[in-house]
Amino acid sequence: MTVFKRLAFVALSGILALNASAQEVGTDVHGRSSTYEWPTDAKVLEKLDQWRDLKFGVIFHWGLYSVPGIVESWSICSEDVDWIGRRWDMPYDEYKKWYWGLKDEFNPTEFDPGKWAEIMQDGGMKYMVFTTKHHDGFCMYDSKYTDFSIANHAFKNHPKRDVARWVFDAFRQKGMWVGCYFSKPDWHSEWFWHPHYATPNRKPNYNLERHPEWWLSFKEFTKKQLAELTTDYGSLDILWLDGGWVKGDDVDLDDVLRGARQRHPGLICVDRAVPGKNENYQTPERGIPDVQLDNPWESCITLSNDWGWVPNAPYKPAQKVLNTLIEVTAKGGALLLGVGPTAQGTIEEPVVERLQTIGNWLKVNGKAIYGTRNAKVYHDGNVWFTADKDGKTLYAIYALPEGESLPAEIQWKGNAPKGKVRLLCNGKSLKTKTKKGVTTVKLPNGLPQEALVLEFQVK
Ligand code: GLC
Repeated sequence: MTVFKRLAFVALSGILALNASAQEVGTDVHGRSSTYEWPTDAKVLEKLDQWRDLKFGVIFHWGLYSVPGIVESWSICSEDVDWIGRRWDMPYDEYKKWYWGLKDEFNPTEFDPGKWAEIMQDGGMKYMVFTTKHHDGFCMYDSKYTDFSIANHAFKNHPKRDVARWVFDAFRQKGMWVGCYFSKPDWHSEWFWHPHYATPNRKPNYNLERHPEWWLSFKEFTKKQLAELTTDYGSLDILWLDGGWVKGDDVDLDDVLRGARQRHPGLICVDRAVPGKNENYQTPERGIPDVQLDNPWESCITLSNDWGWVPNAPYKPAQKVLNTLIEVTAKGGALLLGVGPTAQGTIEEPVVERLQTIGNWLKVNGKAIYGTRNAKVYHDGNVWFTADKDGKTLYAIYALPEGESLPAEIQWKGNAPKGKVRLLCNGKSLKTKTKKGVTTVKLPNGLPQEALVLEFQVK
């Protein structure tokens, strides 16, 4: 990119980023599906139970949109809503051409997936989900079925051009679980957005009943891509399918899974926002359910306001993320934190800093998070409860609100301790009394001003 172009991008990105941030308050996001259907495959159930131990993962959005730093894919979709930013200096058709052309700019020469994995592991994360293909159809892997991929353009001569392969390997090497994000909708495919028609919204732009053969071609294409991702890219733990306006059934997901689960027994499939047998866990987006849930679920929440990288992103403080993780865990879920690598392939320093703080806390207090299960009484004010699997040991986690200091004592109703209450960070027992079902614990002075974990027995 020339210096001039780079400057123009930065200026422009600022404008678009403003728009993109509006998504935080936008309504067009996935809520939690209203029903949950437990899978019947014993291996999937077993894997889900293991997944429920992990609690904390990262979702990377990395694609063409990372080059100018704009909302992921959505700007080429002609829906007039506040959270989709668009350049005003170009009409729609020209804009799309410009967007597709970003393939010739995307050259992430500093891509170092080992570093990504190290940062996320130090942050206490146990699993990773990577965008192999977002709605714009640009593949972040070397697909045999399209040239529209990172492996064929500006980055084509780089040894790591088959990007997803390297990302998956790097995380596997750290012992972390690997999830493959794949968008069922593909706005670059002519069998989805047919060139003979306008593209007014996110859906296929033709009448499927009049052109069943076009949809058949799309279905075949999608199935082949899913087959290659689940055959040629090593072991996978989670298939995270986005774009719920195309349902798994529309692309024969059952067939895909039959094959994929032979190669990856127990593979967890998240046909998100499509309630039914292939939504193995629910994925409320940018929010936390109001109450504790017994079925498996995961909140996906951005670390800044956007899924992909944008310039000057307003990253949330570590304390806020930690409090979210605590609440999510006590309610029985997992937190999938959204991070956007830069167009050069790096993870920004403010992300690293926040993850370090979170990771340091988890190194000391992780026993109250990882591998825990729901406590019946799970919440009282700022105190959240988690339980060991046998239900005998409970953890009371005081989520310190931002801008506040630790109180002199902590109180909660229910979950009366039997015996000593210990501070997890230093093993010391604390002065405790329980009266009329209300437990009061005195805190010593000089504790670090951060979330606090108390450990005790209830049986
Ligand atoms: C929403 C967005 C999509 C993003 C996903 C991540 O569905 O529309 O672009 O990839 O959330 O959870």
